[in-house]
Amino acid sequence: MRLLVTGGAGFIGSAFIRLVLARDPSAEILNFDALTYAGNLENLESVAGRDNYRFVKANLCDAEATERAVAGFLPETVVHFAAESHVDRSIFAPKPVVDTNVTGAFHLLEAVRRHGVERFIQVSTDEVYGSIDSPDEADENFPLRPSSPYSASKAGADLLALSYLTTYKLPVIVTRASNNYGPYQFPEKLIPLMIANALENMPLPIYGDGQQVRDWLHVDDHCRAILSLVRKGRPGEVYNIGGNCALPNLEVVRRILAATGKPESLLQTVEDRLGHDRRYALTSAKLEAETGWTPEIEFDQGLEQTIDWYCANTEWVERVRSGAYREYYEANYSRREQQLDRLSMARVKP
Ligand code: NAD
Ligand code: TYD
Repeated sequence: MRLLVTGGAGFIGSAFIRLVLARDPSAEILNFDALTYAGNLENLESVAGRDNYRFVKANLCDAEATERAVAGFLPETVVHFAAESHVDRSIFAPKPVVDTNVTGAFHLLEAVRRHGVERFIQVSTDEVYGSIDSPDEADENFPLRPSSPYSASKAGADLLALSYLTTYKLPVIVTRASNNYGPYQFPEKLIPLMIANALENMPLPIYGDGQQVRDWLHVDDHCRAILSLVRKGRPGEVYNIGGNCALPNLEVVRRILAATGKPESLLQTVEDRLGHDRRYALTSAKLEAETGWTPEIEFDQGLEQTIDWYCANTEWVERVRSGAYREYYEANYSRREQQLDRLSMARVKP
């Protein structure tokens, strides 16, 4: 397999590269990543140095650099993970999100269109379906009603990618996964933020009433699903990937407190997120029927493993929370956006 992975230094992309090389040690991989605040080569220390794994630091917003990487490597398969992936950041500063998630995806599609590829996997999210009233759940034909700049930018890229199949016969597959958790996740998303704060006895900020529902999927189950689609997915199709584990946020956070032995007095209700989606729900029946995939990691077991990882890697948390994050924001965000972002981060990390 000759595989171009974008965003391979991030949370899910790095788990995917580790999985592919464990399953197929001879796979040729090029990891294309800009190393934003969320990208970290430490996540790939276990595979660095192999002859069949290469890294290029480049930005999808740079069309020429994207073209050079694709032309130089000539991948058979592209798995496109790279994105600005955090909803709160997209609310405070939408521009970098639209630049990377829409324009960056466009540059990649153009480069791949010129050179040809056997599979292009557009890694997307269930958030494109927007908030869903109980008891409904989204299948792949559910209307797209994204609420945040993040989810709207992902929906835009999904549609653009699918248009390249209709128009140029590029073999595109779109995946839409639910909320991921697991080791190496940047401590801005709910689960790693709550674990990291609990371990430091810092307040755990609950947006609004904490009754918003998310479906939790272990990152390794997500990566196995993507790999099964690299092998068996049908071009032009969309596949949902869910964890079969819908829980209200407050319940998730209470389980983290119980597992870390910390008191509920650390819980702190804060102002709600703008346009906050109340409930995500999806079915992955299509993926299960076509590939035989099912999620294997039960939530409490996955959460315990994740907490153990964060307990053993407090220095990783310290490093990603400090240096890289600040440098990236100073370089890419306007002064006003940085101020807004600091306010938001002050809210989530008092
Ligand atoms: P992440 O924020 O941890 O990592 C994103 C990676 O992309 C980083 O390594 C970053 O350096 C890189 N990147 C960002 N902008 C770039 C650019 N312009 N050029 C090149 N590289 C760039 O994200 P993640 O949580 O690993 O998510 C990966 C993908 O999965 C995203 O497309 C996201 O929308 C999707 N997704 C995430 C979740 C989740 O719960 N995290 C759920 C469903 C889908
Ligand atoms: P998040 O991890 O940001 O993922 P997404 O917004 O993509 O679902 O948030 C998951 C849920 O947790 C969401 O309902 C917002 C909520 N949340 C909090 O209540 N407090 C927090 O500090 C964060 C980061 C999220």
